[in-house]
Amino acid sequence: MSIFEPAIFGDLKAAAAAKKAEGYELYDLSLGSPDLPPDEKARRVLSEQSFLANTYGYTLTGTMRFYEAVADYYKRRTGVILNPETEVIQTLGSQEGLVHLPLAFCNEGDIVLTTNPGYVAYDAGIKLAGAVPYYMSLVEENNFLPNLDAIPEEVAYKAKLMILNLPGNPVPAMPNITFFERVVAFANKYNVIILHDAAYSEFYFSGDSPSSFLTTPGAMEVGMEINSLSKSFSLAGARIAYIVGNAEMISIMKQLKSNLDYGIFGPIQEAAIASLNNAEKITDRLRKTFAERHRVLMQGLTAIGWTVAPSNGGMFVWAKYPYDLNDKKFVFEVIAQTGVVMVPGTVFGSEGAGFVRIALVQDVEILRQAVEQLKKLNF
Ligand SMILES: Cc1ncc(COP(=O)(O)O)c(C=O)c1O
Repeated sequence: MSIFEPAIFGDLKAAAAAKKAEGYELYDLSLGSPDLPPDEKARRVLSEQSFLANTYGYTLTGTMRFYEAVADYYKRRTGVILNPETEVIQTLGSQEGLVHLPLAFCNEGDIVLTTNPGYVAYDAGIKLAGAVPYYMSLVEENNFLPNLDAIPEEVAYKAKLMILNLPGNPVPAMPNITFFERVVAFANKYNVIILHDAAYSEFYFSGDSPSSFLTTPGAMEVGMEINSLSKSFSLAGARIAYIVGNAEMISIMKQLKSNLDYGIFGPIQEAAIASLNNAEKITDRLRKTFAERHRVLMQGLTAIGWTVAPSNGGMFVWAKYPYDLNDKKFVFEVIAQTGVVMVPGTVFGSEGAGFVRIALVQDVEILRQAVEQLKKLNF
């Protein structure tokens, strides 16, 4: 028997397809796959570079041009100065980096501190390494941030790695420096490596950009940040991401990865460079679009009696539905009754019971129509 559970997305897709086959409209708010097109310049670069005959060899790793573009982007967006040679590594999407990271740092039986609810790839990586997850609950009373004081001492001393994700998926937690300072203190006290997943760092609805973990004093000594071009730059299908941070940890990842793959197609690396160099313009549009979608969906759901966790960022709405029904049953029933496709909260952990995750990946008009559909639910 496999240690991995089959992902639910296939079942959701099949239920949605069955509804569509009956002639119904679908409102697919399940996957966090960006619907905005990638930047035009990035697409042009990819197209032109792919035509060249000499771009098809193994790249082996990230190119220095890519690493420099990442370091430059980090400096502009966060103020963090990175050495492109030693403090950046490229990954085939962040999923690949996340799944392989525990293999690089954990021995069998080591504890990894992770969250409930949390993004599903963390668990996959922990299992692959034979490590043991310890789940830190994310609940609204604590602004969906882990309560580090609730981790038992014996667990903390056995932990090798802590994985955090702010702005969060599925919960709408936002990072702040006070919390990150406590994380650095925890890492130092218990000798734990921190990995902060910043996949949604460009998704904020107002005010300043969410803090990078690496801006926290001492963070470069204890950890790394993983970020992706999938979400912020709509390059999800191109599979390109990176990890930045502590040089020794990055070199361990480089060693592992040199055994795993032969690098990303050169033209994709060039398209990513073009995107990073134009980040301010690209992400400004993204933010306006997602802030408006979030406002419309939050107001619509609240008006029909759903409870939506307040949020200032991320790509999702985390909502409690007003029916006494198991979340998995509920989601399939919603598809059958309305054509609206959402993800059950418990896919991300037991704390997701009673919640659904709704991805803001459709235009506001479709979101309004989806709410109208949900209004008709009958239980
Ligand atoms: C929190 C988080 N991290 C990482 C990923 C993986 O993204 P990618 O592998 O496309 O970089 C996702 C995708 O949904 C995510 O939500």
